[in-house]
Amino acid sequence: MAAQAGFFAGGLIIGAGGAWLAAKRESKPQLVQGGAPAGASAAVGAAPAVAGPTVVTPAATLSAAAPVPASASASAPAPAPGAVPAAPSAGAPATHAVAGPAQVTVAAVHDALAHSGTPSPTTDILAHEAYVSAYDRRLRHPVWTAEHLTAESLQRRDGANRANSIFTEDLRIPDAFRSTNAAYFRSGYDRGHMVPAADAKATQNAMNETFLLTNIAPQVGEGMNRDYWAHTEDFCRRLTRTFSDVYIFTVPLYLPRQGADGKWRVSYEVIGTPPSVSVPTHFAKVILGVNNAVGLGRAKSFSMGAFVIPNSMIPNSAPLRSFEMDVGAVERAAGVDAQAVRLGHV
Ligand SMILES: *[C@@H]1O[C@H](CO)[C@@H](O)[C@H](O)[C@H]1NC(C)=O
Repeated sequence: MAAQAGFFAGGLIIGAGGAWLAAKRESKPQLVQGGAPAGASAAVGAAPAVAGPTVVTPAATLSAAAPVPASASASAPAPAPGAVPAAPSAGAPATHAVAGPAQVTVAAVHDALAHSGTPSPTTDILAHEAYVSAYDRRLRHPVWTAEHLTAESLQRRDGANRANSIFTEDLRIPDAFRSTNAAYFRSGYDRGHMVPAADAKATQNAMNETFLLTNIAPQVGEGMNRDYWAHTEDFCRRLTRTFSDVYIFTVPLYLPRQGADGKWRVSYEVIGTPPSVSVPTHFAKVILGVNNAVGLGRAKSFSMGAFVIPNSMIPNSAPLRSFEMDVGAVERAAGVDAQAVRLGHV
């Protein structure tokens, strides 16, 4: 689809972008209403230790975090195995062309890695009934989750109930890298769903899968996971009234802040004993809405937008719009190329 680059290049309002804005206008009042969110996770242990983080509009930090030119972000090649230092070749004749068994060549290192495994992966791609996640073994939470919502998919419910689900450690992750319930216990943070349970009501199994800790990151509870974040999730679901297909990427972020010395640093908490699960500074939702062509002469339309929400207590009066961010800036900050995802039937 040649038009895609054009659609996405603009970032925020793409194609029939009016629909995107209209959807936002329609739902904004509900977003600021407050009230008990349906999708909030229960706190673990003690009350959230919100050490007075103030709402920081992430615009400045985001742009600072995004020095990479857009053209460079799409397909930055991984370091070649050739970067592994080869054996000292001092004294080896340049004409020594035949690789003896003792000679270490780039090709041999490559071969060895291919056969014995590399220290990677540092992320695990995990597929589920209702979503896909990429789990980061160092941060011990997802680097992204992806889901596809339609009005119909949200209607389907097989008696799924979050009361029947419990937060579960993901045994597919090796023990050394696994996120644990113990790390969250008395941390003051909620186990925050990246893909909300309420997006996975089709079956109890689908909902259960959203409670895997590979779908969870530490979130401030009050004012965030149980409030503003839950409203944002609800906003995403309501986009299915405007778009035939809604694709949602949820992306934890670590954004730098400028210190008194003018330098930018990322500072974040790590919970657990010993410390193991990192606490993101922000969370992003990158949303693609697709309207299928309906009727003669109507074209398929795309809208894309992103929100970046600080991991702190946020007053419900803050308009969601104030957290709207350029999609490219979010991608550069996250190291994630959401626009590269090939949406098979789009
Ligand atoms: C969902 O999780 C609960 C709690 O672990 C378990 O008892 C139940 O069997 C699970 N249901 C399905 C369908 O996987």
